[in-house]
Amino acid sequence: MLFTKIAAAVALLATTTYATPSPSSTASAATPAFTYNATTFLLHGKPYQIIGGQMDPQRIPYQYWRDRLKRARAMGLNTIFPYIFWDHLEPTQGAWTADQPQNDVAAYIRTAQEEGLTVVLRPGPYICGEHDFGGFPAWLSQVPGLVVRDYNQPYLNASKSYLTKLAGELKDLQVTNGGNILMVQVENEYGSFGENHQYIGALRDILKGLFDVPLYTNDGGVDFTLEGGSIPGVLAEIDGDPSSGFNARDMYITDPSELGPLLDGEYYTYAPDQWGSYNSHNSTERDPQAVTQFVKDIDYVLGNKSASISFYMVHGGTNFGFDNGALWQNRTTVFTTSYDYSAPIDESGRTTNLYHTMRETIAKYVPKGSIPDVPEDVPRMAVPEFQLKPIVPLFNTLGKPTTKASPVTMEALGESYGFILYEHTATFPVSGVVHPGDRPRDRVLVYVNGVRKGVIDSQYQHPLNVTVSLKPRDKLQLLVENLGRVDYYSRGNPYADYLRQPEKGIVGDVTIGNKKLSGWDHYSIPLDDLPSAPQGPHPYDSEYFHQHQSTPIFYQGTFTIPSNITSSDPAALDTYLAVPAGIKGQAFVNGFNLGRYWLVGPQQSLYVPGTVLKRGSPNEVVVLELEPDHINATMTAKGLGDRVWFNNPDPDCLRCV
Ligand SMILES: *[C@@H]1O[C@H](CO)[C@@H](O)[C@H](O)[C@H]1NC(C)=O
Ligand SMILES: *[C@@H]1O[C@H](CO)[C@@H](O)[C@H](O)[C@H]1NC(C)=O
Ligand SMILES: *[C@@H]1O[C@H](CO)[C@@H](O)[C@H](O)[C@H]1NC(C)=O
Ligand SMILES: *[C@@H]1O[C@H](CO)[C@@H](O)[C@H](O)[C@H]1NC(C)=O
Ligand SMILES: *[C@@H]1O[C@H](CO)[C@@H](O)[C@H](O)[C@H]1NC(C)=O
Ligand SMILES: *[C@@H]1O[C@H](CO)[C@@H](O)[C@H](O)[C@H]1NC(C)=O
Ligand SMILES: *[C@@H]1O[C@H](CO)[C@@H](O)[C@H](O)[C@H]1NC(C)=O
Ligand SMILES: *[C@@H]1O[C@H](CO)[C@@H](O)[C@H](O)[C@H]1NC(C)=O
Repeated sequence: MLFTKIAAAVALLATTTYATPSPSSTASAATPAFTYNATTFLLHGKPYQIIGGQMDPQRIPYQYWRDRLKRARAMGLNTIFPYIFWDHLEPTQGAWTADQPQNDVAAYIRTAQEEGLTVVLRPGPYICGEHDFGGFPAWLSQVPGLVVRDYNQPYLNASKSYLTKLAGELKDLQVTNGGNILMVQVENEYGSFGENHQYIGALRDILKGLFDVPLYTNDGGVDFTLEGGSIPGVLAEIDGDPSSGFNARDMYITDPSELGPLLDGEYYTYAPDQWGSYNSHNSTERDPQAVTQFVKDIDYVLGNKSASISFYMVHGGTNFGFDNGALWQNRTTVFTTSYDYSAPIDESGRTTNLYHTMRETIAKYVPKGSIPDVPEDVPRMAVPEFQLKPIVPLFNTLGKPTTKASPVTMEALGESYGFILYEHTATFPVSGVVHPGDRPRDRVLVYVNGVRKGVIDSQYQHPLNVTVSLKPRDKLQLLVENLGRVDYYSRGNPYADYLRQPEKGIVGDVTIGNKKLSGWDHYSIPLDDLPSAPQGPHPYDSEYFHQHQSTPIFYQGTFTIPSNITSSDPAALDTYLAVPAGIKGQAFVNGFNLGRYWLVGPQQSLYVPGTVLKRGSPNEVVVLELEPDHINATMTAKGLGDRVWFNNPDPDCLRCV
């Protein structure tokens, strides 16, 4: 009885709200391009079971988009769920980068259509995704009065401006206009964070004004998340375990305008890796039980024609550069550069055992012969070990400082990612424990006159106390690394909501003992430009580097593509770069920022897409090593055809957790 009433209400909603066929649509005016009734998604009037996978364009080199999409389709998927990263599209307020190939998300969606895939769009503005600040641009923190994920004019205005520009790129790609975008998500798992329906309603209204296709919300499959995140007129869906989630959706969502077919919008195939000596990489390769459960869950969902699914992630890709996010769990926990935690399509785009298991499972539920053949995997390249030579200490490459009485944050300096060096010249004798503002944000390397005194790292539950003793004219140098902004915070978390305190660098005053230090030079170090290796005679000899080795040093080396690699496919040049003697730092190839490395693991090598390499001329590797004095062996690099994951003790704090 209730069921019939709900079905009627949903059907009514579908025809009144979403029936906006475009003049160019070949379907009859009465048939919306994409809609749903109580039990079934309907594409051009026919039942459509979404077999989806999450794959974010801005985590994949754009030259490889088609290859990854082809592979997703060949696993049996019919739909791609992409998150869109606002921070990449609008890196500074008012900028718009969609004309850069890596941010041309419309091209990605068109390519998906060419490969036979529909798209469920997840534009945010907040996307979480283990991405810096959950996809928010860092500059939001500088807009007066702006509070993210809240009913708040400055925030809604900035969100509307972003979504309007994005819709400008993607409007024509909706299924109502002959494209492949079926649905658009409102926010992301908002119910885990809050329950302000005025806020989520405002976002719904903004998106309704911009897109013609149905909207949906996606929340954890329990009562409070579903109640907090759902909003009238928007289909409510779940993520996580499908069985309990579907039951919860049908139990806790009672507004007929929020009901419809079931979708597990994020079915998790494992959890992302974080840096740390005690965080091992776990993989389905060593966990057959997990794979058995995946198969059971796929059978459960696809065996029920009224349910749909999206695998999170079908291909994780890479948090290149400084893209990774972090969590605050009474200490900072930081996601690794790799966003591949044993996804079916691995970080380098190769198919895995899990891929083939999932493909066979999906094949049971789709017409025979409808899944394309799997593209062949070309072997990855190995590059023999080559030397990295010191080229210049970081502290010799600094630009002009900004001078202030009290330290200011990274964002206040207009910098979003990387490092800042804060420098203070003592005017009176002072000694004691260094307090770098309200709390370390996030890893503070402490130097006096260019000699490292210790590391204050918020990744440790109990950061070490670093004690210094300054005489007048001594230089105190605090090199602060932004390890990635918090991307997720759930209500009920006993710790502070650091999603809303994204500022990096130093916040507050620096004290030693209890004395405040005034007078600071700030050097922004976004690492957008790298020093080049000297052409002629080296300006510094090895003794010079020896004297400066407790400060960070840039190393450089080159390699050429081994001559036996004759395939013209850029994927034949894919490799994993290892810097075996390195402690912690940032690695670049031909100027492309590969990401962070850290010997603690579990990640020990960085994905190098063949698309950034050159044949026929040397490829340049530049490494900023933060702790050269801890290095025991010669600095070298090598390319691995096959990567390994392992952990090491942390030389900066052997017993720190
Ligand atoms: C939804 O549409 C499908 C496909 O046309 C149909 O089989 C099903 O009965 C419909 N369900 C309801 C509740 O109308
Ligand atoms: C609204 O956002 C736009 C774009 O971010 C900005 O230029 C404008 O100043 C904002 N207006 C208000 C009233 O906040
Ligand atoms: C993976 O490893 C982490 C700890 O490193 C653990 O918390 C998690 O439960 C493991 N298993 C899965 C399936 O992610
Ligand atoms: C499919 O799922 C719906 C919603 O959970 C449920 O009512 C129905 O019984 C399921 N059908 C089958 C065949 O499992
Ligand atoms: C957080 O850590 C601090 C010490 O760093 C401790 O005093 C405090 O009790 C912890 N809070 C919780 C909620 O665990
Ligand atoms: C650091 O010093 C404070 C007192 O200044 C003390 O309470 C704390 O336990 C010390 N932390 C460590 C890790 O030694
Ligand atoms: C190239 O040579 C190396 C080293 O001899 C070998 O390991 C690799 O498999 C070869 N690659 C190809 C594509 O032949
Ligand atoms: C370097 O060598 C020293 C002495 O053998 C050892 O104590 C230390 O752990 C080594 N450091 C690293 C990072 O391997």
